[in-house]
Order: sequence, then structure tokens, then C-alpha cells
Amino acid sequence: MSRPISITIDLDAIRHNFDYAQSLAKSSHTMAVIKADAYGHGAVATARALGDKAKLLAVSSIEEAVILRQNHIKTPILLLEGCFCSSELGVVDDLNLQIVLHNQQQIQDLLNASLSAPIDVWLKVDTGMHRLGLTAHDSAQAYQQLLTSQNVRSIMWMTHFATSDQPDAPFLEGQLEHFRTAMALVSNNVSDLSFSMANSAALMATPASHGAWNRPGIMLYGISPFSQPNTLAEPLIPAMQFSSKVIALRSLAVGESVGYGATWVAQQPSIIATVAAGYGDGYPRNAKSGTPVLINGQIAPLAGRVSMDMLCVDVTHLSNIKVGALAELWGKELDVNQIAHWSDTVGYELVTRMPTRAKRSFINERTVN
Ligand SMILES: Cc1ncc(COP(=O)(O)O)c(C=O)c1O
Repeated sequence: MSRPISITIDLDAIRHNFDYAQSLAKSSHTMAVIKADAYGHGAVATARALGDKAKLLAVSSIEEAVILRQNHIKTPILLLEGCFCSSELGVVDDLNLQIVLHNQQQIQDLLNASLSAPIDVWLKVDTGMHRLGLTAHDSAQAYQQLLTSQNVRSIMWMTHFATSDQPDAPFLEGQLEHFRTAMALVSNNVSDLSFSMANSAALMATPASHGAWNRPGIMLYGISPFSQPNTLAEPLIPAMQFSSKVIALRSLAVGESVGYGATWVAQQPSIIATVAAGYGDGYPRNAKSGTPVLINGQIAPLAGRVSMDMLCVDVTHLSNIKVGALAELWGKELDVNQIAHWSDTVGYELVTRMPTRAKRSFINERTVN
């Protein structure tokens, strides 16, 4: 038997989550944000699984777009950070990509380029995230320049939210207002302009943010973007199943410890199950003792430090656990956000940073066209 670690991606779940995203904003288009290898779920497999459902895919770089095209994905692709240098515009032209414009250099490069055909551009306004984007004034100026450029086929106004995971935070309302103000600089009727604001959290909880295009990422993978439990996330189906098996069992007497640093000490006679999964497989090393693990479908607490290839679980109160028992680390029955909470991070990080050591496999691989 080989090492029993497994990462299984359910492509039906991704299709279901995409449909849910689309159902929340019926008059908007829904793109699929599949940057960072579809948040660790496999960008090519995700793009194939979505097929014609997703009319636009979003990635972070030319390299990510090239991989999709090399794998015969024909869906239009948006580069969320635009081009990193002017020479990338040649590839944009060749591969029929759409680009975000978030700074003056990118705008000048596009205005000066000689492209074989005009392209669709996304003009990014910084409405308060203060990461990428132009000021309201500069956006208005850029918009006028782009309108007359032979290189531009269409202009989509866009912005990105800092706090959409906390729908009641007043910050978001301020960003919406700022965005409307920016667009009002170029049009007396803002509803004449096409715009895109909503990520997953805003798509679910802030209908006022719905635009011509919404940009969900994390919810496609069945993971709630919210910082608090939210019923709007209940229809989501987790797509990633991260599991392994118990490879050893031992009894510990009171006072005996588990793992590196001897940080977990038995307070009662205890049974410890060793699971073949560690930080080398993507399980967070900083998960604290007590983090839930599902052993044969029953919750048991992590005991001691996670090592590179193994972790230990206190299964004292479980019945009938044997070597070979299934250990679900996260998936449909155990929300990755719970593990993230115990590890002081977010589900986004855990799924996205999965190493390649444990091979992913895919289920429900049919293509939708
Ligand atoms: C510009 C932009 N739009 C949309 C998304 C998707 O966000 P989420 O995964 O929270 O839905 C991201 C992700 O970081 C992003 O950077």
C-alpha cells in the first residue's frame, strides 16, 4: 500500500457552487476566478468542468493564462493584475486575453501598443482597499483616453472590496459610494456604464454591489468567505476532500506526552492515533491541540504539534478505531474554515497553498458545454 494521503476534488461541487453564484444575481454575468491554480483545486480541471457555464475566467498572470490555453481552454480570460510589463501585451493579443488596468504605466503601454485587434479592458478604481487601482480623478481621465483608443473594444469599471466578508461593516458602503462618485465624473447616468465589484462575499450578501459581471472565487470551491457563520453560505458544497488514514495507535499513561516539544500531555489514560498527514502535505503546522479531525466520521481533537509527515489525534473517547481508519482533515464533513480558525488563518490560505507532494485526483470529471 502507498502512503494513504489523498486530495480529491469534486468537480460536480464546483459546478453546483457556480450555479448557486449565478442564481444569486440572475441579470449579471458570473466569471470564475481560478487564479492560483483555482485556489489549489486545479485551474485546468476547474475550467474544463465549468465549460460553457463560465463565460470568463480570471487569473493573476500571463503564465496562468498560458497554461489554460496550452490545455485547450478557449474561454475568454481576464488578467486580474493586468500586464506586468509592456511586452506582455503581445501575448495578450495572441491569446485573446482581457486585462485589468490599475496604473498609469499600464494605460500608457496599451495606448502606445500596436495590437492586431482591440481588446476588452477593466479599469480599476481604488475605492479604499489601497492595494491596486487609480484614484477617482485619474480613472475618469483614463476612461476618456481609453474611449478614443483603437486598442480598446470595451471598458468595464471595476473595484475590489476590503471588508465584504463583514457585510454590516460601514466601510463597504463607503467603497460603493466612492465608486459611484468616480463613475459619475464621466457620466450623468452611472447606470449607463458597465461595472464589476462583487467577489464571493459581496455577491452573496450585498446585492447593491452586483454589476454587469460578478467575480466569485472562494465560493466556487464551496468555502464560505464570511468571517462569521452566514446562512447564505449554507448551499455551498466543499469541493476539496483532504484525507488520510490512521497508521499507528498507542496507549499513553497519565503524564506521557505526544510529539515534538512534548506539548500535549495525557491528563488521563489516553489512546493516540497517528495519521499519515503533516505540514509537508499541506496540513497547517500551527494548528493547535484541539483542532478537530474526523476519524471514521467522528470528531476527535488534534494532540500535540503537527510534524512534516504525521499528526496525532486523541481518540480516547472514540470506539472501535483501528489502524487503517479514515481520517478526514477537511472536506464535506469538516469545514476547512474550522481548521483555519484553529490555525489563525483563513480557508483561502489552506487550500491555495497545498503542496504538490500529495497528488490531487478528480471526481465527476464530465465537461459541460
Ligand atoms: C480582484 C479580485 N476579484 C475577485 C476575487 C475573488 O474573491 P473571492 O475569492 O473572495 O470571491 C479576487 C480574489 O482575491 C480578486 O483579487
